[in-house]
This record gives sequence, structure tokens and C-alpha cells, in this order.
Amino acid sequence: MRRRTGLVATFGATTLVVAAGTFIVSTVASAAAESRPFPFHVTYQVGVLPSASAAARDAAVRKQYDSWKATYLVHGCASNEYYVSTKGDGDAPNDGTVSEAQGYGMNIVPLMAGYDTNAKTEFDGLWQLVKNHRDGQGMMQWQLDGQTCRYADSGTPDGATDGDLDIGYGLVLADKQWGGYTADALGWLGKFYAANVTSDGHLKCEDDGPTTDSRPSDWMLDHLRAFAAYDAAHDWNKVITKTQNLIQEFTAKYSPSANLLSDFIVSANTTAPNPAPANYQENQPDNIVGYNSIRVPWHMGTDALLYGNPVSLAVARHESASYKNHSGGDPKNVYPHTNLDGTPHSTSDVAEEAGDSVGPSAMAAGDQGFTDAIWNYLATNPFGDHYFGETIKMIVYIVMAGDYWSPTAGPGPAPSPTPPPPPTKYEAENATLSQATVATNHTGFSGTGFADYANVSGSWAQWTVNATAAGTATLTFRYANGTTTNRPMAIAVNGTTVAAAQAFNGTTNWDTWASVSLTVTLTAGSNTIRATANTANGGPNVDYLQVS
Ligand code: GCU
Repeated sequence: MRRRTGLVATFGATTLVVAAGTFIVSTVASAAAESRPFPFHVTYQVGVLPSASAAARDAAVRKQYDSWKATYLVHGCASNEYYVSTKGDGDAPNDGTVSEAQGYGMNIVPLMAGYDTNAKTEFDGLWQLVKNHRDGQGMMQWQLDGQTCRYADSGTPDGATDGDLDIGYGLVLADKQWGGYTADALGWLGKFYAANVTSDGHLKCEDDGPTTDSRPSDWMLDHLRAFAAYDAAHDWNKVITKTQNLIQEFTAKYSPSANLLSDFIVSANTTAPNPAPANYQENQPDNIVGYNSIRVPWHMGTDALLYGNPVSLAVARHESASYKNHSGGDPKNVYPHTNLDGTPHSTSDVAEEAGDSVGPSAMAAGDQGFTDAIWNYLATNPFGDHYFGETIKMIVYIVMAGDYWSPTAGPGPAPSPTPPPPPTKYEAENATLSQATVATNHTGFSGTGFADYANVSGSWAQWTVNATAAGTATLTFRYANGTTTNRPMAIAVNGTTVAAAQAFNGTTNWDTWASVSLTVTLTAGSNTIRATANTANGGPNVDYLQVS
């Protein structure tokens, strides 16, 4: 995504074109042999599907495809070329294309093959246009004029990482669907790796850009996993690992509860990535979520659904929960500009794709209600969206319908949607206690007792907790303090104090229990949590520690 201003066009002529351009498909036998003709139902690794029936979901995808194709898939600039028009959004002069749009088309068309009987011809035309408009490093010239079909930006033509990633992924999809694209796909991936992957393994924003920044909307982990399985000549696993590290380092520091990623990040070549300054490359501003990073919940959710990766799944859960919380569960109230704590940055700019993009994360998170709300919302067009919104909707539709197959994995085992794990409760009576004993002399505790801290400073309880993945977690202590004096405790995670004096204020009496929570970062696997009394009064009575 380049140069998006964040302005949303109002209702225009596009919808009329959709009505007039109804596409004729599906009754003719397909010319090319597809290995995975639409609808090719996939069993995702985690989460839930919308409650609508598979037949209803497939029908909704077909309807959206007819509309999208009639409006945005253009047979031009040459007789053997196709391009995806940015009509309505002005991302390229004269309704031309950008590599982002072209990449989307090269993903959508192979996934719809079998329904669209002309898909292979269209895909070949999309790829032909890319081949005819390469920059000096072999990537696609990022912006083309719709009339002249020439590079439309100033200066030497360059690429854009998101579009070039999708073009590569499209070639891998096409190779799986029809065969015959292996050399094209491997050739593209080799050039992409040379142009866009830095020595430490992070993705640059564009092939001629610096090696210190990155754009989280390019972090399409599902694509990278497919490349790792497909292209043994390049170290795609290094890119995956570095990208996941950046996600965890960034969210732990800047968005521990919502797990949001800003539109651009800097210091991507270090272990301390930061939000880019406002208006770093675009006037979004770029230090929060804008029209770039609204795509992150779609990409993270999709990766979690296809591959069950715990890092992506954790982000998907946090982002889905945050967007649900701040929108009241109404996808229309997910705004394109969001602060990193999950609160809307501005409610004056609205766009349908902001809510649509959360769909795959809601599914991965196992949130049936929010999944259904977003699924139903896809069938509406409340803000009159054009190229960008309608194209994102197209792909989100395919994912949410359960038709987004992996080009490198089998269709997966029988359906077994997994809900998110419930919070895990660790009783204090099972913890390691120092200058504290297990007691039962008050009511209302859970389990078989609670920890009664001796009235000395330095008394402690320590739990060993397990985390399925590295990342943020919420620690909740249930406690009672029958006095009116705070009994602060130091909370340490793996030996590092994360809260020097966490307050445990009075709860009226020793039979009344209350909870305090704090957000911490856990490593994958075993972690120790220690709560040490800070004052001569000792700690409160502690019933349990809950980790969620
Ligand atoms: C009382 C109470 C205990 C509590 C203690 C304290 O003795 O019954 O449960 O631990 O006060 O002050 O810590």
C-alpha cells in the first residue's frame, strides 16, 4: 500500500457498473484442469467457521466474485494482459493498477478457478502484465497509469513489498492449481528474496528502500510458510523467525493488551523495534494502525487458521478481543485509524475493510458471535467501498467461507474447531511457599485452601505456569485482605521484577475475595511467577493465580 490518504470516496458509479456487468460463469466445463476447483473446502487448524451453511458461504463468495470481477478485473493493457483496476480509490492514475492490486488478483483468481472457467487465462494475463512491467530488480513497477500502462510515479521505477509478496504467492497457488508455474514461481521468489529480505531476515518496505524499517501489513506469515515449504534455495524460515520476533518485541512494549502493530516500524533490524514517527511515509499517521495495518488481523488470523501457529494465534486472539471490545461487537464501528491500545484514533474516517479484516482473527480466536457478526457484515456495503475495500472483502470472504486452501499443505483433518483455552487457574495451596502456610480458616476460597503469608516482609508464594507460546499474558491474583492497609507485593516473572509494589488493598474482611490483574510477558513453556510481601504486615491471603 502506497500513498493512501485515508480518504473514503462516497458512493460513485462503480455500483452501477457492477449491476451492468454481471458475469457469466460456471455453466461451461472448465478448460484447464484444476487440482482444487472452487469450492475446495478446507479444515482449518484452529477456531470456528461462520454459522451459515457451507453452501450459503460458497454462494456468498461466488456473488462477491461476480461483482468484484466485473468491476475490477480488466482485460488490458495488451491483448494478452489483465490488470486489477484501483477504480474508485485513485491509487493509480486513470483507474490503473498498483502491484498490491495485481497481487490480490493473482491470489483471488487461482482460488476461484473451477467456478471461473476463464481463470487460467486471466491469471496468465495478470502475470504477463507483471513480466512486462518489472523494475531494475525484477519486481513489479508498483504503480501503472490506466491509460498509458506506464510507470506512473516519479523517479526510477521501484516495487512495493506487499504486492510483490502476493505476486509470488499467486504463482505458488497457480502451480498447485494448474501446474506449470514452478520455474516462474522459483524465479520470482529468488528475485524477491534478493531485493526485499535484509541480512537479519526482516522484510523491507520496498526493494530500493532502507534496511531498517518494515511494514507489518507485509508480514503475511502464511505466504512465508508456503515459500519455506516450496523454495528450498532461500532461508524463508529465517524471515518467519525474524518476523515473529518483531511481532512479539513490538507488541510486548507498545501494545501488550491489544497486540496491534503500527503502519510502519523502524529499528526493524534490531530487537527493539519502534513505531515509525507520525507521517513517516504516508499521512495516516504511520505510528498507529491505519490503512496499512488494518490488514494485520486478516493476515495473522489467516496464518493461525491455516497453520495453527501460536504467535499468530495469540495476536489474532488479542486483536479480535480488542476490536470487539472497542466496537461493541459491531464491525461497522471498527475504525481504520486505531491507537495501539485499541481505542479508536478517529471516528470520522470509516471504511468497511477495517471490520472485514478482523474476520479471520475472530474465527481463529474461536469467537462465534463476532465471527457471525463479521460474516453478516460482509454482505453489506455500508460505506460504498471501492477497489481496496471490495478486494480485501473478496479475499476475506474466501478465508471465512472455509475455501482458502494452502498451496503446500493437505486439506487437513476432519472438522474440529478448537475454542481458545480457558484461563488456567493455579491454586495457591499448590504453590511453593516461603514464610507462608496453607490455611482454610476463612470462607469463599477455591480449591482446598489458600496461602496465608506470615506477617513479615519477604514472605512469598511462587507458581510455575506454562505458556503455549511466548507473548503477553494477564496474571490475575485472587486475594483477601481483611485490614484497611494495603499489603503491596513485588511480582517477579522468571526472576525479573515486573511490578515492584503491586497493591493488594483491603477487601473489608478475610472472607471477601477480590482480584488484581497485570499484564506480563511470558516465554514459551515453563515460567515462574513469584509474589513477595513488601512490608512487615506480610502479604494478603492469596487464593489462586490465574493466567489468561
Ligand atoms: C488474621 C487472618 C489471617 C490473616 C492474618 C494476617 O489472622 O485470620 O487469615 O492471614 O490476619 O494479618 O495476615
